[in-house]
Amino acid sequence: MNIEKLEKGDYEHFMLKEIYEQPSTIADCMRGRLNAAAGWIKVGGIENVEDRMFNAKRFIMAACGTSWHAALIGEYLFEELARIPVEVEYASELRYRNPIINEDDVVIALSQSGETADTMAALELAKEKGALIYGIVNSVGSSISRITDSGSYIHAGPEIGVASTKAFTGQVTALTLMAIYMGYRRGTIPKSYYNQLLEGLEKIPAKVEEALKCNDQVKELAQKFINTNHTLYLGRGYNFPIALEGALKLKEISYIHAEGYPAAEMKHGPIALIDENMPVIVIATNKSAYEKIVSNIQEVKARKGIVIAIVTEGDEEISKIADYTIEIPDTEEPFTPLLSVIPLQLLSYHIALARGCNVDQPRNLAKSVTVE
Ligand code: G6P
Repeated sequence: MNIEKLEKGDYEHFMLKEIYEQPSTIADCMRGRLNAAAGWIKVGGIENVEDRMFNAKRFIMAACGTSWHAALIGEYLFEELARIPVEVEYASELRYRNPIINEDDVVIALSQSGETADTMAALELAKEKGALIYGIVNSVGSSISRITDSGSYIHAGPEIGVASTKAFTGQVTALTLMAIYMGYRRGTIPKSYYNQLLEGLEKIPAKVEEALKCNDQVKELAQKFINTNHTLYLGRGYNFPIALEGALKLKEISYIHAEGYPAAEMKHGPIALIDENMPVIVIATNKSAYEKIVSNIQEVKARKGIVIAIVTEGDEEISKIADYTIEIPDTEEPFTPLLSVIPLQLLSYHIALARGCNVDQPRNLAKSVTVE
């Protein structure tokens, strides 16, 4: 017995443990911030700087890696629900390109560690230019949480696996709470939809628990793809960033080349790669663009690609055309990323494990990149 073994509990790897912790880490992120029965959301970090948040001309989100993918979901959430213009920037690009940042901008940094050098530098720049800086951070007391004017901790607890899982869903949960709160207060969400969103969000931890039940199916599926060299991940709308995140997870820990793409962009390039050896993972849980995603799957099948589709439970149409389908529970569309990412985390875990890779400490990667 050593400390590491004790901390991992019954799990073989930290990554798997952290994947399974998500029902409780998401609930922890919502604790004290959401009460559907009483009809309220409260985000203390926004209340501290209310005037500047509510009067901001735009939000600029800066982050790296997986946190950048969470930021992209933030863009969809804030623009749809709160009607606030959002730009998403790689922190490493923002810091060096002499960006236009004004005093009426809010720069939101997302970071699990709170120590990423590029994100920190982007915030320093934004602060110099007079913007309000806000942190969505996991590590309490970290450099980013100290430099920001205000912020929201995600309360995911220590994340040890280099490939981020529970911090990602924590960041998305925090962004979701913020977007609903701001949307309601700004009058861009009608009361009835607001109540529906609150109820839907409160059910997410239980639905993540439900989504995790695909583990055995995903494990079996993973065995078929251990010798794959390339994969394509496709998604639309809220699931486009999930395609990017699914691809990143696979690259990081299994060393299989994977690309995430907006499904409709496939025809502008990646479609040329599709043949009978190409697994294409399609996140197909969208309600608003359902027929579009069905036709994207048909385009892949017409070129003999192998389609693994993530679908909403009870979906019959896609299971007829896809080679494999994995079901996740139904929810309001803005919350689908919190569920659709689960089978993709598990898929990369099981493929990497079957290939004999070091899941928790992949080669060449660091948990926290504190230098350039
Ligand atoms: C490294 C980690 C990633 C993480 C990224 C940003 O690349 O391996 O998992 O997403 O840094 O880190 P941060 O701590 O700022 O979220």
